[in-house]
Amino acid sequence: MEHKSAPIGVFDSGYGGLTVLKELEKALPQYDYLYLGDNARAPYGTRSFDTVYEYTLQAVKWLFEQGCPLVILACNTASAKALRNIQQKDLPGMDPARRVLGVIRPTAEIAGNLTKTGNIGIFGTQGTVSSHSYILELQKFFPEVKVYQEACPMWVPLVENNEHDKPGADYFVKQNINKLLTQCPNLDTVFLACTHYPLLLDKINKYIPEGMRVFEQGSIVAESLVHYLERHSDMRSRLSKGSTRNFTTTDRAENFDKQATVFYGKSVSSRRIELL
Ligand code: DGL
Repeated sequence: MEHKSAPIGVFDSGYGGLTVLKELEKALPQYDYLYLGDNARAPYGTRSFDTVYEYTLQAVKWLFEQGCPLVILACNTASAKALRNIQQKDLPGMDPARRVLGVIRPTAEIAGNLTKTGNIGIFGTQGTVSSHSYILELQKFFPEVKVYQEACPMWVPLVENNEHDKPGADYFVKQNINKLLTQCPNLDTVFLACTHYPLLLDKINKYIPEGMRVFEQGSIVAESLVHYLERHSDMRSRLSKGSTRNFTTTDRAENFDKQATVFYGKSVSSRRIELL
């Protein structure tokens, strides 16, 4: 099969993946990026395995149709519930030369190096936590490390409703931190395993105990992609280098453009597409 060079596809259930895209761009500014947010059907965090898989597969197919040789699932819930199936069941039949990568493995690969106590905390959506993906992935690389998870169902709505920097957010942030610490008081390393949570970082830092470090995933995923592309010159040569950024959403473009700035830090101009 012959391939023209094309952008890196970046997919998220909505806006959150923009926090990852921001870091990908910093690390690899030369490439073109095509962002897709399934805003019409977000949030994914509370949806079933089958539904997240179905929606994510549709998104990947659409990004492939646009030519993307590489798609990053910049969504923890999609990475947790759909990535393995897509990589193992769907990709070989669609186009085995293309790649779909997620955000969980890059985090798991380095997480164990960051803890001194051997205890790691994960904040994520209900879907990510109940998939146990972090526990399973971390076990592969650091079998001696213990992983404690806390689902934070209120954190995404707080961010989506622009309440993340308001006093009301403190209550829920404090509550989930305390619940995680109740599971294991001796945590020194915590990951924000949801694309929305970096926006709550100021509040989180306010309530975590001294000595505990909180990590966002954007820069971890970006660094991992840098290494991946160093190792895969075939993929590198298939990525177009024009430094363009294009944004698509399954909901109203005007709404996306307004809210995207909160996550991306810059203004964007998106267009609406339909996923089938
Ligand atoms: N993007 C999702 C994640 O990283 C959070 C938002 C959602 O629930 O759709 O898990």
